[in-house]
Amino acid sequence: MDKDANATVEMPSRRGFVNAVIYALGAAMGAALAIPAARYLFLPPKTRKQQAWVEAGDISNLTPGVPQEMTFRRIHADGWKIYSEKGTAWVVKTTEDNIVAFAPACTHLGCAYHWDAAKSDFLCPCHGSTFALDGKVLSGPAPRPLDRYEIKVENAHLFLGPVHQSSETSS
Ligand code: FES
Repeated sequence: MDKDANATVEMPSRRGFVNAVIYALGAAMGAALAIPAARYLFLPPKTRKQQAWVEAGDISNLTPGVPQEMTFRRIHADGWKIYSEKGTAWVVKTTEDNIVAFAPACTHLGCAYHWDAAKSDFLCPCHGSTFALDGKVLSGPAPRPLDRYEIKVENAHLFLGPVHQSSETSS
């Protein structure tokens, strides 16, 4: 009789199969937990970003020479967190076809200023700085004119971009 005829083919046992399935499921669960944790620990978060342009509103009814405070919400991405933040701008129609949008913080120490209609200037209540309609410093400790938003107008709607800091020499 042939020696090979007596050889038995070794079949995997039921126990071996169950163990293999358990190990495979354990490996899959470990990977499912480890991959997000590794991404969180080792990949840098998205850098701080904000919407490039945000719509501030309709400017078709602005009266030339009369500033109007406009509010808007801007979306920010900070790391893994996305949030919206309220913002404001003082918008002035200086001529029929020229718009300026000032950042809302005084250039001295950042207080919120307002338009004083009786005196026709912007007044900061903190230390008394005043600014003209074009943002130039009229009086007080403010070291430079009001900062301005980059703007664009589409179909009579004002869009605000980043704030550009004014220089001391532009006063
Ligand atoms: S913060 Fe406006 S004058 Fe000081």
